[in-house]
Amino acid sequence: MTVKSWQKRPSELILGSIKDVVTSSTQAEQKQNDNNLNKELEEKLPPMVLDLWASLPQSVRSALVTSELDQTSNASSLSCSVDNSSSKKISNQSLYPSSATLNTARSSSAISSECKSDDDYATSFEEKEEECPLTGANIVLRPIERAPENVFSFTKTSTHETSDVIRKGSSIITTSTKVVTSGRGWRNVFTLPISYDVNIVAEGTILDASNPQLLHATGVHPEGYNQRFAVIDADVDNIYGKRIRAYFSAQGIKLTTCVLNGGEIEKRPDAVDKILDELCSYKLRRREPFLAIGGGVILDIAGMAACVYRRGVPFVRVPTTLLAIVDASVGVKNGVDYCCDVTNESYKNRVGSFYAPSSCLLDASFISSQDKRNIANGFGEIVKLALVRSSDLFELLESHGAALIKSNFATGDAFGVPTGVAERIIEASIQIMLEELGPNLWESKLERCVDYGHTFSKLLEMVPGADIMHGEAVNVDGFFCVVLSHLRGYISMDIVSRIFKCMQVLNLPTDSIDLTPTLAWQSCKDAIEHRHGEQRIPLITEIGESICVSDITEDELKRAVNFMKQFDHRDELSQYKSS
Ligand SMILES: NC(=O)c1ccc[n+]([C@@H]2O[C@H](COP(=O)([O-])OP(=O)(O)OC[C@H]3O[C@@H](n4cnc5c(N)ncnc54)[C@H](O)[C@@H]3O)[C@@H](O)[C@H]2O)c1
Ligand SMILES: [Zn+2]
Repeated sequence: MTVKSWQKRPSELILGSIKDVVTSSTQAEQKQNDNNLNKELEEKLPPMVLDLWASLPQSVRSALVTSELDQTSNASSLSCSVDNSSSKKISNQSLYPSSATLNTARSSSAISSECKSDDDYATSFEEKEEECPLTGANIVLRPIERAPENVFSFTKTSTHETSDVIRKGSSIITTSTKVVTSGRGWRNVFTLPISYDVNIVAEGTILDASNPQLLHATGVHPEGYNQRFAVIDADVDNIYGKRIRAYFSAQGIKLTTCVLNGGEIEKRPDAVDKILDELCSYKLRRREPFLAIGGGVILDIAGMAACVYRRGVPFVRVPTTLLAIVDASVGVKNGVDYCCDVTNESYKNRVGSFYAPSSCLLDASFISSQDKRNIANGFGEIVKLALVRSSDLFELLESHGAALIKSNFATGDAFGVPTGVAERIIEASIQIMLEELGPNLWESKLERCVDYGHTFSKLLEMVPGADIMHGEAVNVDGFFCVVLSHLRGYISMDIVSRIFKCMQVLNLPTDSIDLTPTLAWQSCKDAIEHRHGEQRIPLITEIGESICVSDITEDELKRAVNFMKQFDHRDELSQYKSS
């Protein structure tokens, strides 16, 4: 996009460009025949404008020249005092200024340098010019005076050229048609002030009546009622429900709850409906934050309900799984899986939105009640972050991951994990996530290293009846991508072995019977669909460094699947089932 301060302000590109030439002519010259004018135009205008000019019918060209000369002569007759009054008039102008008003403003500015400097004009009327990346149209945007920050009136001019080739006897005749279209309208520009705090709560204190953090996060009821609303994961409710209710009742607050099951199978649109029903019944006020307490599934469902209820109400995330603490609670995404009646297929996270929470409260003590499989599952997302962004984090996982799973994230001599290691792993993961998300909150840039492990895992998770959790599927995908990187020569076999060992130590699956060449190729096709035309698959070039590639072939996937099978994979999942 180019930004320039306005000197010549035509409402049409052509009109503006011929103005310089035409206004240098006298009124008498106005009567010159078209040949003379065309000659003069040719000398002074760029070829593109000349083309546009030539494409207009003769009658339109004459009308434009006459109208431009009229404008100029009107402007020339304006005095300084008229200019002042006209600029006042503009600041009180109607919401929809006529083009005549705008033309007068332009012309009077051009001639009255003693009354108003170009700089003054540029500040109040800065114009932007850009080319539409889709159509190539030239767009001239002018801020409207009553809302110069966010409303721009625009004119768009685009040229569409077609050519026809016809054979007549022995000769070939080529005819080309150039169509110039122009349009006008408004652009509404928003700058959304998005910020939210991810609060680290002193471990084990979130439900202490003496700790007001949870209460404060839910704000104050606008009509002073002592009530709050919370969506709670069913397992969390079993384990912590009494303490959650006791916390609020100690503050004199009645807590209304909507208890939902966790687990991927529950992440469906009807779970969102259930929350919406309860919110209607509770009559949640427009700015009254509700609580979402649970793992990634509950947070994703609740976030979606928050986004659509009354077109958006605040919600506070309280993650209770390792995966949700380091990943699902930190970003702005929510959503549910969707089963389509037409294709009869289920699609992971197919419907949802980008909607920021009002805040997050992280208390790592919730991890203590998770089973080992779920803790390892959380490590799946942490390994992903380490592989693409931090070799230090990877070393921490290699050294302490296994002991942390064993101790349910407790640290200290008794558990063989140095104090502070759990915090370092959690905090490093969150910081990497935030660093990656911040500049790309709406994912306008589709090459995202945090999508590592999220290309093939989507289909792995959606295989009917598959017993694989999100972090586990991310890890299988992550190791598959390690193999792809190796086969491309990006990383040595030593690095592959090191990563494989670390994943095994963390009890994470490194393969799945569902990971076939067919599923892998279908995943690539889905990635092209989801990432707008290109695969954009993150691979690593060393531990902590990544790139995105878009040229993975079907053969390459076959070779990678075969290569994967040569490793001595452990059946991590059956190990959990038997324990
Ligand atoms: N929105 C995002 O940016 C984002 C990021 C990563 C993952 N996700 C999503 O998160 C989901 C996975 O999250 P998850 O692994 O937390 O799964 P989950 O929410 O299903 O929780 C796993 C299981 O643990 C139980 N549970 C929750 N907290 C517990 C606790 N403290 N103690 C004992 N049991 C507890 C739940 O009831 C559930 O059975 C996936 O659907 C994934 O797509 C979202
Ligand atoms: Zn994920």
